[in-house]
Amino acid sequence: MFSPVTTLSLSLSLTLLVLPSTLAEGLYSKTSPVLQLSGQSYRSLIEQSNHTSIIEFYAPWCGHCKNLQPAYEKAAKSLAGLAKVGAVNCDAEENKPFCGSMGVQGFPTLKIVRPGKKVGKPTVEDYRGERTAKGIVDAVVEKIPNHVRRLKDADYEAWLAEGGESRPKAMLFSEKATVSALLKAVAVDFLGAIDVAQIRNKEAVAMKAFNVGKSPTLVLVPGAGKEPIRYDGELKKEAIVAFLSQAASPNADPAPKEKKAKTSSSSSTNKSKASKASSSFSKASASHESQDFQSAKATQTSETLEDESNPTASPNSKVVTDKSQQPIKVPDIAPPITSLPDGLSLQQKCLNTKSSTCLLALLPDTPTPDTASAISSLSTIHHKHTQAKRTLFPFYQLPASNSQATALRNKLDLASTTVEILAVNGKRGWYRHYPSTTFSQNPVEDWIDAVRMGDTPKHDLPSGLVVPADSLPMEPIKMEFGSAEGLREAMKGQMPEGMGFEVEEIDDEMYEQLMKQEGGSREGKENMPPDEEVGHDEL
Ligand SMILES: *[C@@H]1O[C@H](CO)[C@@H](O)[C@H](O)[C@H]1NC(C)=O
Ligand SMILES: *[C@@H]1O[C@H](CO)[C@@H](O)[C@H](O)[C@H]1NC(C)=O
Repeated sequence: MFSPVTTLSLSLSLTLLVLPSTLAEGLYSKTSPVLQLSGQSYRSLIEQSNHTSIIEFYAPWCGHCKNLQPAYEKAAKSLAGLAKVGAVNCDAEENKPFCGSMGVQGFPTLKIVRPGKKVGKPTVEDYRGERTAKGIVDAVVEKIPNHVRRLKDADYEAWLAEGGESRPKAMLFSEKATVSALLKAVAVDFLGAIDVAQIRNKEAVAMKAFNVGKSPTLVLVPGAGKEPIRYDGELKKEAIVAFLSQAASPNADPAPKEKKAKTSSSSSTNKSKASKASSSFSKASASHESQDFQSAKATQTSETLEDESNPTASPNSKVVTDKSQQPIKVPDIAPPITSLPDGLSLQQKCLNTKSSTCLLALLPDTPTPDTASAISSLSTIHHKHTQAKRTLFPFYQLPASNSQATALRNKLDLASTTVEILAVNGKRGWYRHYPSTTFSQNPVEDWIDAVRMGDTPKHDLPSGLVVPADSLPMEPIKMEFGSAEGLREAMKGQMPEGMGFEVEEIDDEMYEQLMKQEGGSREGKENMPPDEEVGHDEL
């Protein structure tokens, strides 16, 4: 029999044998509680979500990433149902443009993504705290959006009347002044469907009005003349979501293809309703509360994104009327459009007297959410045309370090801080500029169609940009990467300055300190208290 270690190294070397030019084997297995993300699934599952997420950008060969893995998986288990925990393998060919567009400069990079005021425009910030499960969990929990209204005797009646009398409401009577992560997560699940509030048990009028004797007590007011229902099940997320689902369905948070989630056998609430509840995120995630650890693990498996054939929710797809039943289909995950790293390659492809139309995405100095959005849209559109075998001009992305991209920006008077999309034709000497600041797929696709039809305004390319075709050297031979080393070397040359993929982000001194804090072990010893002590899964 193989020892686990032997089996692992065997399968790794097999992978390398079979796929010499990819190193797509990630750190997280299919059964990991960590969501495995690509640029596209990031857009649909994280960017569009009402929940907060933490994303790790890593490379499988990076030592600090390997050290982080157990703590990160532990954090994912603790955060199940409260927030999303994902990872992007930046070594996988298809993820590289996305990692670049997110400003990843070293591994591992951790970013907390919080929903913004506008859907699809989250706030993204680096997590620079301790690389322990507890450090990560605490930081993420702090960033969970709070949609829970705090009420007093004086204002609870007004709140109940908000949104009309048919609007369902849920009130938690509590001795605590602060709102728990669990209740915040419940409120996010039901955002726009059930209003959630917390009221302290010293508010005697409200306590009396709902005949509440002890706290915590959760009361559901289903609306429209229905009697308030007191909840007497477990104070666990899954059970609470199931209970509230009798008044309204939770939001269909974009999540991977829904699989059957096991409900906790100890749940005392209405299972038929619960299983109809739409949010596979809340369902799957809630099951971490289950005593049956295996079932929690199995459920989490359904959240992995590795299998690209899984239909995932698309940010652009129309909301399905019965969101609880139908998975939303999207096309296959698109490979990213080609990057032209230097000025010469751009001249060879697009800026010479023989080149025909090219579509160019000029990346800004510092990546923005729009950058990721633009690249994702262009990649999807390009992939769609390729799939349909329609001929279309080539699409390229140009890092800010590409000298000819800079020349284009300067001559066309474009700021260096925004992503820009241009169509250029060297032979005919024209360019067209994408006029909008919205980079979602539909407007971009409309514009590309207009370019194809010659329907958009075109302008003359300023002189000096297009070079005579026969003055250019032949195109270089493509490199294949057979090893992590080779890949790293090649990446170095391709990434713009300041965007290089370093092998290690922190130096040895910092590392020693980190290790000391973690208990002096190099084996990735974790600093995680038992689950109870984290205390975020309580009302
Ligand atoms: C986010 O919340 C809004 C209500 O504010 C809801 O309509 C929408 O469906 C939610 N989105 C997701 C992805 O759950
Ligand atoms: C549970 O669901 C069944 C079937 O949908 C329904 O008849 C029953 O009233 C529900 N019970 C509660 C407590 O919601």
